[in-house]
Amino acid sequence: MRILALETSCDDTCAAVVEAGEIRSNVISSQPEAHERFGGIVPEVASRHHLELVNSVVDAALEGAGVDLGDVDALAVTRRPGLIGALLVGVSTAKALAAATRKPLCAVDHLHGHVAANFLEPDPLDPPFLCLIASGGHTLLAGVRERDRFDVLGQTRDDAAGEALDKGARLLGLGFPGGPAIEQLAQDGDPEAFDLPKGMDRAGGLDFSFSGVKTALLYTTRELGEAESERRRADLAASYQAAVVGQLTDRLERALAEGEWEAVALGGGVAANGLLRARAGEICRERGSRLKLVPAELCTDNAAMIASAARFVEPAPYPEYLAWDATS
Ligand code: KG4
Ligand code: ZN
Repeated sequence: MRILALETSCDDTCAAVVEAGEIRSNVISSQPEAHERFGGIVPEVASRHHLELVNSVVDAALEGAGVDLGDVDALAVTRRPGLIGALLVGVSTAKALAAATRKPLCAVDHLHGHVAANFLEPDPLDPPFLCLIASGGHTLLAGVRERDRFDVLGQTRDDAAGEALDKGARLLGLGFPGGPAIEQLAQDGDPEAFDLPKGMDRAGGLDFSFSGVKTALLYTTRELGEAESERRRADLAASYQAAVVGQLTDRLERALAEGEWEAVALGGGVAANGLLRARAGEICRERGSRLKLVPAELCTDNAAMIASAARFVEPAPYPEYLAWDATS
């Protein structure tokens, strides 16, 4: 089964060709400059960029795989959740390409895609496993027992982890996206310099909350004043990263203490973070669980993960999918 997948749920325009779980091509066109001056993603700007980029990204994915559209068995596209205008570009394009060639089309849930990144070759991970997904839009613990679904064991009650990192980075005058910028600056800082709250420490359970740590960073910088905040930016970045990652790894530890999970996986853009990967490694070693880490480019948004999820989704035949809409 050779699948051509499209992913346009946020600010990355992505297309990939995956054949029996092997990535043949995986093209990602990001738009950081378009959003940088706003310090975050502007939905309307993202939609317009997807429109400009999507055809050439699809062409590049087909060319990279050395195939024509006629050679693919099915198409797949992220249908939900995401920015509605951005999703619509991918859904409309996938519908048009599939309809023109009378091929079936699979509708994929973006979060299922992040989980399914772990099913890709080489070394695919078989369920059951516990998957921590932390991205710019979502933060959740998924109990994965089947390839086509997962249970939400805990999720954020406010901001997503990546969103908190992006907002913290903006506060510290760093670029967008904030996660990598904070990670880089944190290398020169002391993670214990400031005692920022991890969030919902006393609540127990597997839910997350990042609004408190973000506010704590704001108050800390206000107290320090502009010049001192600037001078101690690396310490602030390191302490903030430690608090956000600390909450993620706390919940991971809790989930592992509550359930029998022989394997653990990480997904979503924040899973590219070196500190999170290292801490998750230590926790899994202590517990004797296997930790599966996909490369960073499969953690952040990409279409190979959508094709991977599509392998376990019932494809809709032509012309059934022509009535599809995107849902945010
Ligand atoms: O999964 P993703 O590419 O898009 C969404 O579905 O949201 O995640 C993007 C998020 C951004 O908030 C970005 O700051 C964060 O992932 N991110 C990171 C790193 N790389 C990307 N956070 C921490 N460390 C990183 N290295
Ligand atoms: Zn994502």
